[in-house]
Amino acid sequence: MDFNATRKTLKTPSTYNLTIFETTDALNKAAVEFIIAIAKEAIDKRGRFVIALSGGQTPLNLYSLLATPAIFEQINWKQTFIFWGDERCVPLNDKRNNAYMAKDVLLNKIAIPLSNIYPIPVNLTPAKAANAYQHQLSNFWGDAAKQFDLILLGMGNNGHTASLFPQSKVLDEKIAGVKEVYVEKEKMYRITFTAPLINQARNVLFLVTGNQKADMLNTVLNAAKQPHKYPAQLIEPSNGKLWWFVDKEAAILLKKQN
Ligand code: 6PG
Repeated sequence: MDFNATRKTLKTPSTYNLTIFETTDALNKAAVEFIIAIAKEAIDKRGRFVIALSGGQTPLNLYSLLATPAIFEQINWKQTFIFWGDERCVPLNDKRNNAYMAKDVLLNKIAIPLSNIYPIPVNLTPAKAANAYQHQLSNFWGDAAKQFDLILLGMGNNGHTASLFPQSKVLDEKIAGVKEVYVEKEKMYRITFTAPLINQARNVLFLVTGNQKADMLNTVLNAAKQPHKYPAQLIEPSNGKLWWFVDKEAAILLKKQN
């Protein structure tokens, strides 16, 4: 599927590809095809597909779709390596745990080697978990750049992405790829990829649905850049591509840019 030809794909000034889908279902189907295409290209070219999953509710149906036989058979899971872009510091079997959710709806249902799955070790203290994950990434990539083939991201209606929340210190992190962050509103620590690590990816795909995101989506894409206020604006892959798959409800305030 040529995502540049998808109906209502708006090619904005060369910074990102925005595709607006009539329904969330159509968005998820397109996202599945997108993932299959990126996986095939990555495995053909480099022998493996390295993806970081996002958490929250938005990707749930996408992960379930990926778990259907007609679809999962199209991906070489033995050559696929799964990381997470962020995690909540809750027990590993807590329903709020992003890895728990992804295993429940997808990973436990497909033939992927357990050794290919790298959950963030939130059984450790936050700082240790961040350090341990940073080391896991270094061990995985060795001397090569930590360049994910695909990083999935969601966006909160406050403009956060991964666990990069407004006004948090981690937004200014320039060196570390993984940091712990205390989220006051949730009274909880989280572990997150930093913007520099996300921006090294070959492809970053935002999935945004629902009218409750419409105002923030329009702000993030069209308002003046204020990344401390709207952290999703930090995401600008340096050598990769940025994709936004949004449904019509979330896109309701976006002006047509023909
Ligand atoms: C998380 C996510 C987070 C999420 C947004 C959107 O751990 O919560 O990684 O960044 O993508 O909060 O969440 P929803 O998809 O639930 O709206």
